Amino acid sequence: MRYLLLAALLVLTGCGRNMYDQAKFYPDDASPFFEDGTINRPLLEGTVSRSRGEVSDVFFTGQAEGGLVTELPLDLSEAVLRRGQERYNIYCSPCHNYSGNGQGMIVQKGFVQPTSFHDPRLKAAPVGYFFQVITNGFGRMYSYASRVPPEDRWAIAAYIRTLQYSQAAPVADLPEDVQERLERARRGTITGTAAETAATPVTAIQGGTP
Ligand code: HEC
Repeated sequence: MRYLLLAALLVLTGCGRNMYDQAKFYPDDASPFFEDGTINRPLLEGTVSRSRGEVSDVFFTGQAEGGLVTELPLDLSEAVLRRGQERYNIYCSPCHNYSGNGQGMIVQKGFVQPTSFHDPRLKAAPVGYFFQVITNGFGRMYSYASRVPPEDRWAIAAYIRTLQYSQAAPVADLPEDVQERLERARRGTITGTAAETAATPVTAIQGGTP
C-alpha cells in the first residue's frame, strides 16, 4: 500500500498545464514583437507555390487593380470546359438549373430563385464576378470556397459563359452535322426508317447537352 501511495504521488504531481499552455502563437494571433502587430509573416516577393507554381492574386481573388477581371487567368481548353460542366452540374445546377435559368430542383421545392444567368446584367458581368460569387457567396447563397478549389471555380465560370452563349448561339456556329440535322428537322424530312429517326439523338437536334 505504501508503494502504491508513493507511485500515485509521483504520477499525479507530474500532471500540470505547463505542457499544455506552452508559449506559442497560433496563425493570425496578435504580436507586439513585429511592427505590423500580427504574428503572420508576409510572403516574400517571388514566392512560388509547390502545388500551383506562381502565386497570383488574380487567380485566387478574381480581381486585378482595375476591379474584377474580364479574362480567365488560365488557358481555355475543351478539358477546362468539360471540368466546368461537370462541377457546375454537381454544385450549381440544384439551384441554378442545368441551363442556368435559376429554376433548379431546390428552387422548385421552395428555395429563393436566383437571377437567370441569361439576364442581360449577368451576361455583361465580368468572368471574375462568377469566380468571386463562388468564393464569397452572394446574399442567401453561401460560399462554395471550401468545396470548390480555385481551379474549378474558374472552370465553372468559363462554363457559365458557355451556357450564356449556348442559349443564344446563332445556328451558323453549330457543328455542320448538327446544322444539317436541324435543317432536316425543320423541313420535317427526318423520315427514313423508324429506327433511323429514333437513333437521331434529341440533344443533337437541340444543339447540345444537357
Ligand atoms: C442552394 C442553392 C444554390 C446553389 C447550390 C448555388 N447557388 Fe448561386 N445563388 C443562389 C441564390 C438563391 C442566389 C441569389 C441570392 C440572393 O439574391 O440573395 C444566387 C446567386 C448567385 C449569383 C449572383 C447572381 C446575381 O444576381 O448577381 C451567382 C453568380 C451564382 N449564384 C453562381 C453560383 C454558382 C457558380 C454556383 C455553383 C458553384 C452556385 N451559384 C450554387 C442559390 C444557389
